[in-house]
Amino acid sequence: MPDEVWDRIRSQAEEEAGREPVLRPFLEASVLAPAGLEEALAGLVASKIACSSLSQEATRAVLVETLTGDADVSAALRADLVAIVARNPACSSELEPFLHFKGYHGLALHRAAHRLWAADRHGLALLLQSRMSEAFGIDIHPAARFGRGIFIDHATSVVVGETAVVEDDVSMLHEVTLGGTGKESGDRHPKIRHGVLLCAGAKILGNVEVGEGAKVGAGSVVLDDVPPHTTVAGVPARVVGRARTELPALDMDQSLPLDYSI
Ligand SMILES: CC(C)(COP(=O)(O)OP(=O)(O)OC[C@H]1O[C@@H](n2cnc3c(N)ncnc32)[C@H](O)[C@@H]1OP(=O)(O)O)[C@@H](O)C(=O)NCCC(=O)NCCS
Repeated sequence: MPDEVWDRIRSQAEEEAGREPVLRPFLEASVLAPAGLEEALAGLVASKIACSSLSQEATRAVLVETLTGDADVSAALRADLVAIVARNPACSSELEPFLHFKGYHGLALHRAAHRLWAADRHGLALLLQSRMSEAFGIDIHPAARFGRGIFIDHATSVVVGETAVVEDDVSMLHEVTLGGTGKESGDRHPKIRHGVLLCAGAKILGNVEVGEGAKVGAGSVVLDDVPPHTTVAGVPARVVGRARTELPALDMDQSLPLDYSI
């Protein structure tokens, strides 16, 4: 079966090894030698999160097992890379996030932990979550549900709670929290619908819904539902306008309305 994303990553790695021979051993081990994208990613991420509780080889085996054999996971791993290149002006090839972006690595690790969680292997899932937090500064509960085409830029201090849902084509920046208010139990975390853009430091608290194509301004605290295609900003957040594009996450449109003021 054709694998266009992986084929591109391999040829980008070959080009890079030609330009920068000192990187060839790393590129050979991490991209050119492995059998496919999932195996390569498992090796790369394992090298970053292995610890005294789980050796690098054991971590790699767990990640190979959990990242392969599930068509949804495989499609998501590829869609996330395509999304990053499409939405990040600082990124010119899939090879860059594949090798170096901890937002991509952290989300891949979450996708592995989520499969373990769904299979009632909670201890191992929680160990992966813990290592994600320690190694990448990203803390996503293994039960949280993510769609595909997700871009988590910079990613430091992103926190996502147990009952959160993030639908397809969402973009978020560093220090975003999808958390509880601390006053609810059960289903207590936000639902982020298709194509939403969550800017740096946005805190979405409680079982609230951020509607399709909405934008949440940097540093906002969202405590109520956000209607689709609406821009909210401030603490607590209030509606400041309509999103200018249909799905702001796709073009990373971080502009506020011209008449915006708090
Ligand atoms: C502060 C907090 C505990 C709520 O306290 P509370 O006393 O129950 O407050 P209420 O929910 O009744 O809200 C009272 C008012 O404060 C406002 N408010 C609540 N939380 C606020 C916040 N974090 N920032 C600004 N205003 C806030 C509400 O909009 C409301 O305003 P209104 O009266 O004009 O409608 C809660 O909103 C909060 O911030 N929890 C954070 C939990 C957290 O850190 N979660 C992350 C987990 S990873």
